[in-house]
Amino acid sequence: MKIKQFLGLFLSMFLFLIACKNKSQREGSNAIKNQDVESVFAALPAHASAPSTNPYTEEKAELGRLLFYDPILSGNKDVACASCHHPDFGYAESLEISIGVNRHGLGSKRVFNYPNDIPLVKRNSQTILNTAFNGIDETLNYDPDNAPMFWDLRAKSLENQSLEPIKTLEEMRGRKFQEHEILTVITERLRQNKTYEHLFQKLFGGNNAVTKENIAKALATFERKLITPDSRFDQFMKGDKTAMSENELEGMKAFLKSGCAKCHRGAMFTDFKTHNLGVIDHDGLGFLDDGFQGKSEFRTPSLRNLRFTSPYMHNGKLKTLDNVLEFYEDLSGNKIQNTRISADKIDPLIKENLKVEFKDIRLIVEFLHTLNDDNFDKTIPKTVPSGLKVGGEIY
Ligand code: HEC
Ligand code: HEC
Repeated sequence: MKIKQFLGLFLSMFLFLIACKNKSQREGSNAIKNQDVESVFAALPAHASAPSTNPYTEEKAELGRLLFYDPILSGNKDVACASCHHPDFGYAESLEISIGVNRHGLGSKRVFNYPNDIPLVKRNSQTILNTAFNGIDETLNYDPDNAPMFWDLRAKSLENQSLEPIKTLEEMRGRKFQEHEILTVITERLRQNKTYEHLFQKLFGGNNAVTKENIAKALATFERKLITPDSRFDQFMKGDKTAMSENELEGMKAFLKSGCAKCHRGAMFTDFKTHNLGVIDHDGLGFLDDGFQGKSEFRTPSLRNLRFTSPYMHNGKLKTLDNVLEFYEDLSGNKIQNTRISADKIDPLIKENLKVEFKDIRLIVEFLHTLNDDNFDKTIPKTVPSGLKVGGEIY
């Protein structure tokens, strides 16, 4: 009898200890401390800094807006920046990979004209929203002169980036002009246009104000206006603890627990570094896009405003956020989507940190939606100084 009592007592103590241990383990991995969150994430600043050589002014931004929507910047006067970065699609595009020259239509209705001898653009169009903050980290430190640009980091700063699409055959140049002459052709066109000539003169001064450098400065200044610093996540980080629901907070915990923040961190939810995740190749391209330094690495994209910028990944191969999370679930189980990529080529941060459980997927997606902010500048000019179609051949 005594022994039975003793055993019963022993058993219940044992069970009690196990329960305590489980509870503390649960809390240990799930509990999220303010200090954890603040060392990994940050709210975006209310304004973007500009380089000292190109200070921000509203008038310059408005000139940039006209240029952004004016197909006068393209060889055949048919494509504008806005053709692939349209406010209706969060300044990105709904195609997997872009179509530039010799096309018409907007969004999924955008197709090549017939006949066509222009290739597809290599990659999925990134959003321009918040590119003014590219390079920013969790301490809000960044240098607009050296801001990393593109899926493979091949340009630095908005100013330098902005002339690249004009020079590229399939994006804006077309076959009529060579790469080495197109910027001279464009500046000459703008000089011949009274409105542009006047605006450049007024804003930049000097006898010869229409230069490629000043075109770049105006475009970059407009882009510094396209920011979304007031998502619910930002409100939460700035102290409004009611801005995120219980589920969304659970989603943030799951995001951290799954290892996502090893790469998606800081105010833009990216380390601005390149990684190989073994995303499937795009078969419509006709050649292999092997990314940064031929290593099949692509820059970690921001996770802000994903609601507006589907499809996802450098080549738009994943349509929904659920697709992306399922991709990561597979990857954390060592299932690589791209059969060309062997396991030893996958980024070590994935192998060491990624652990995605099916039950967390819904919560993580809910958390990602707190990073959307629809309150961005969507103003489309009614006309552009060239008199051409606003936004290019998009309607
Ligand atoms: C034909 C479609 C197309 C046109 C036209 C176009 N872009 Fe893009 N843009 C893209 C694609 C695709 C990428 C990603 C390319 C890459 O990373 O290799 C991109 C990337 C960018 C980026 C980099 C974003 C980041 O986070 O790194 C900026 C900024 C940008 N474009 C601005 C512009 C400007 C300014 C113009 C007009 C002068 C323009 N684009 C015209 C398709 C286009
Ligand atoms: C090793 C770094 C790394 C980790 C860890 C990581 N990502 Fe990514 N993420 C990337 C890179 C790089 C891409 C782009 C890959 C490509 O296109 O080839 C990407 C793409 C994405 C995209 C597509 C965004 C767009 O605009 O196309 C989403 C969404 C995303 N990741 C969410 C997550 C989530 C959620 C987790 C955790 C489960 C996670 N990532 C873990 C580096 C990482």
